[in-house]
Amino acid sequence: MSTITLPRPDDWHLHLRDGAMLEGVAPETARDFARAIIMPNLVPPVVRGDDAAAYRERILKALPEGSDFEPLMTLYLTEKTDPQDVAQAAASGLVKAVKLYPAGATTNSDSGVRDFDKVRGVLETMAEIGLPLCVHGEVTRPEVDIFDREAVFIETVLDPIRRKTPGLRVVMEHITTKDGVDYVAAQGDDMGGTITTHHLIINRNHILVGGIKPHYYCLPVAKRETHRLALVEAATSGGNTHFFLGTDSAPHVDAAKETACGCAGCFTATHTMPLLAHVFEAEGALDKLEGFASRNGPAFYRLPVNEGTLTLEKTDQPNTWPAKIETGAGPVTLFDPGFPVHWHVKR
Ligand code: DOR
Ligand code: ZN
Repeated sequence: MSTITLPRPDDWHLHLRDGAMLEGVAPETARDFARAIIMPNLVPPVVRGDDAAAYRERILKALPEGSDFEPLMTLYLTEKTDPQDVAQAAASGLVKAVKLYPAGATTNSDSGVRDFDKVRGVLETMAEIGLPLCVHGEVTRPEVDIFDREAVFIETVLDPIRRKTPGLRVVMEHITTKDGVDYVAAQGDDMGGTITTHHLIINRNHILVGGIKPHYYCLPVAKRETHRLALVEAATSGGNTHFFLGTDSAPHVDAAKETACGCAGCFTATHTMPLLAHVFEAEGALDKLEGFASRNGPAFYRLPVNEGTLTLEKTDQPNTWPAKIETGAGPVTLFDPGFPVHWHVKR
């Protein structure tokens, strides 16, 4: 049996939703993770500091008795966001980042940004106070092919924004391409990149070959195998500390996934750490999991590494998970890696 012990990991990109879904999924993340950056794309979105404070209370209420899980709150950037409100929410310690969704890019992104000049003041304030901007890096212009959205975003939106706003600290979230890897790797310490569990495991064939698989559909959509390999290399090589885990675990009830127009999102909160142990071991890089899941994220966010540890064990018998978790909102199907996973979190 092999084991590996890490400082408790964090998830730097997580969707917890609200209401009955929040109650169903919050314990899944709190079981293994000490903290998570909580996405603000609720309906209506979490825009002002007051909204984030109220949402944080609802999350804390949904946690199991005795849990010390810490939700790290974010604000949803709109063209009307008030720089003062952002500065106050950051100064109070409540808010750890602001999230930029280009309008129309993904689930509940209608209030996102269309005209980047309208958010210039907020971005300048954030650069001054060192508050990170988390970016959903896809253009939404209809003439751009969905598989090219990330590469075009880097060139036409991300790089220009960063040049116009020196000092702005940016996380390019859920990178899915070699273009994203190369861009993040080439920047200084004001740039981070998160990688999801599922993008380390699937490519676009998983979604489309042998019938359409709605539970592998997420945004940014998985790309071809060469891109997946670039992500695996970035995560597991340990060569560049700008890369860290952001699961983008994004629960939708089965009825919203298994339908003619299904929602984007893979649900990986329950089993991310065993899946990652499998991926890192396959690369001969188990020793690099600690940097990716426990150290690089806190370093970027200027937060301490967690006290306490999480131990993963490898056993002869593969691990098993339920096909779905039942929430008060309905069943949510777990991401299926498509191979046996022999790693378990020691309880
Ligand atoms: O697959 C995704 N699901 N990508 C996103 O950017 C949003 C998320 C969601 O909220 O469902
Ligand atoms: Zn997301």
